[in-house]
Amino acid sequence: MWRRTSVDTREVTVAMLEFDDDGARLIERVYRSPDVVEQRARSLALLAPQPGETILDVGSGPGFLLASLAEAVGPAGAVHGLDPSAPMNAVARDRTSGFSWVTVDDGDALALPYADGTFDAAVSTQVYEYVGDIPAALAELRRVVRPGGRVLLLDTDWDSVVWHAADRALHRRILAVWDEHLADPHLPCTLPGHLRRAGFRLTDRSIVPIFNPTYDPDSYSVLTIRTVGRYVRGRSGITDADVDAWAADLEARGAEDDYLFSINRYCFLGVAE
Ligand SMILES: C[S@@+](CC[C@H](N)C(=O)[O-])C[C@H]1O[C@@H](n2cnc3c(N)ncnc32)[C@H](O)[C@@H]1O
Repeated sequence: MWRRTSVDTREVTVAMLEFDDDGARLIERVYRSPDVVEQRARSLALLAPQPGETILDVGSGPGFLLASLAEAVGPAGAVHGLDPSAPMNAVARDRTSGFSWVTVDDGDALALPYADGTFDAAVSTQVYEYVGDIPAALAELRRVVRPGGRVLLLDTDWDSVVWHAADRALHRRILAVWDEHLADPHLPCTLPGHLRRAGFRLTDRSIVPIFNPTYDPDSYSVLTIRTVGRYVRGRSGITDADVDAWAADLEARGAEDDYLFSINRYCFLGVAE
């Protein structure tokens, strides 16, 4: 479903969504899963948007967080979403059409189309892990946030995943290929240093864990089996039979009440100095 592609001569890495009907339905289910709803609630609580503020969401995707931000800042405020994916932006515009103070812009984290100091706060959840040049992207973020403004970044480290598969060798092969969908599957380790060097003072660091102790079809991890399977199938020697065997193995863990999954999202809140 996701593919990485170079979009221009700077070899910017952009995750583009192949938005067929099945992929679109799957994305919608993942974003509506209780695990991801909780993750959004935690992001919102950490950013603490205030009525009247002007807020940027970098890589706003299908726009769920934009709608929550719009409710928080109210019509006296403004919310800008930005994403390079036209299909994502179409979904986000549709989702936020009831809020005249929300704008969804086509663009890239590496070249934000806003004047210096435009925003009181900025948020970006699971986006910078797709971006190749983090120092350049964070310099852009610092430029468009006013001094004293807040930024909240949330990213995944795929080293934090715990997933019970019986065939560990196949599982490791599949997840190694899945890592390839990101520019940096281990970005959280280095984000605090990157943020400090870009001119942000860190005020909070925390994790949002996702814990799925059972095989629930609506959980993040069971939906992610399909997302991972769609991406790795046919890549780096992963065959259809490999993907099917891996998915069947995880389903069998569930049937035997022997399933367990957890992963951490890492959150960094900073203030622009
Ligand atoms: C996993 S989705 C996250 C969407 C949204 N932030 C959320 O958490 O619901 C990743 C998003 O990052 C966007 N993206 C990838 N590379 C980007 C870049 N260089 N600049 C801005 N957005 C980017 C993708 O188009 C996609 O919408």
